Amino acid sequence: MKMLKVGVIGVGSISELHLDSYKEHEEVTITALCDLNETRLQEKGSKYGVSQLYTSYQELLDQSDVDAVSICTWNNSHAEIAIAALLAGKHVLVEKPLSMTVDEAEAIQATANQSNKVIQVGFVRRHGDNVKLLKEFIDQNELGYLYYAKASILRRLGNPGGWFSDSKRSGGGPLIDIGVHMIDLCWYLMGKPKPVSVSGNTYHVLGNRSHINNLSFYKAADYDPSLNDVEDLTNALIRFDNGASLFVDVSFTLNAKQDEVRCQLFGDQGGAEIEPELSLVSEKHNTILNLEPQIDQLSFDFNSAFQNEINHFIQQIKGEESNMAPVEDGVEVMRMLRAVYESAESGKEVTL
Ligand SMILES: NC(=O)c1ccc[n+]([C@@H]2O[C@H](COP(=O)([O-])OP(=O)(O)OC[C@H]3O[C@@H](n4cnc5c(N)ncnc54)[C@H](O)[C@@H]3O)[C@@H](O)[C@H]2O)c1
Repeated sequence: MKMLKVGVIGVGSISELHLDSYKEHEEVTITALCDLNETRLQEKGSKYGVSQLYTSYQELLDQSDVDAVSICTWNNSHAEIAIAALLAGKHVLVEKPLSMTVDEAEAIQATANQSNKVIQVGFVRRHGDNVKLLKEFIDQNELGYLYYAKASILRRLGNPGGWFSDSKRSGGGPLIDIGVHMIDLCWYLMGKPKPVSVSGNTYHVLGNRSHINNLSFYKAADYDPSLNDVEDLTNALIRFDNGASLFVDVSFTLNAKQDEVRCQLFGDQGGAEIEPELSLVSEKHNTILNLEPQIDQLSFDFNSAFQNEINHFIQQIKGEESNMAPVEDGVEVMRMLRAVYESAESGKEVTL
């Protein structure tokens, strides 16, 4: 069995899910790590038993004993590093969002088109066990024409601070951070129809509410609440060329009674809820049926989804599976995200 040698660039919070999944994979050796933060780099090196540690990603990419990389850095360096990695002849798994702008996304795609290496976008929700099961039902046309989808991730308190709330490094707030998951998931399950127009609103009303006591929330590895120029809330309506539409709302802060994660798809033959738990809606003998699949995990399970994502990356490199999250999907999702921001800024619908 030929071992695949992997490097991880950016070893903050989410990298642990990549590293744990690579560690579990019997055909992978983690050979190198990179981070700008030397203390964190040393810590992760000790934790995962990796001795080749670099503060420059280019140095890591220059190593011949690195076949593939995961890019888990801030959004502002995804494009630059992904392009450099492809040019260095490495296979690439790049975290979501693919980039901060459409131009950057298209530049990655252009480089990928000239390369014979795998590039997979970290749309981890596609790899959830509940989603994979639902996709099988959709592919068998159980839901028919999916004409409406509705998704929310509403955090009442959950601006992670640090780079997440610095638009120069993140490209935006909850839309680009968590909205990207919901927009991608619905679009993917709807059969990737062509987006034709977008209308969106962003609100900078509540700030990050870092003064709130007695309620904990997810924080960036280098948490810093002092800089926050991203929106608190975004909502958007996306129309597709097949007549279908998607409504999404996402927040870092909102005066809501509780947090909410919800994702629903409505078709002419049936419906489905993916979050908070997978369920299907059907009709038989003039009766509406709510169907509950009997599976281990009805909700999104981070650990197994990341393991599935990494396994898929490795299978592709071995030529055994075709890409479930190709770069062109990352580009199309980026077009939708940027169009939402553009519409919010202009107060008008944007045509794609
Ligand atoms: N798929 C998911 O569900 C999911 C969840 C969280 C984060 N993410 C994505 O993962 C990425 C990282 O997020 P995080 O929460 O781990 O952030 P983080 O701040 O915890 O970690 C990022 C790390 O990258 C390092 N870094 C930044 N720029 C670098 C560069 N040019 N070279 C080397 N190292 C660099 C930082 O020093 C930091 O240690 C983001 O793109 C984020 O959108 C994905």
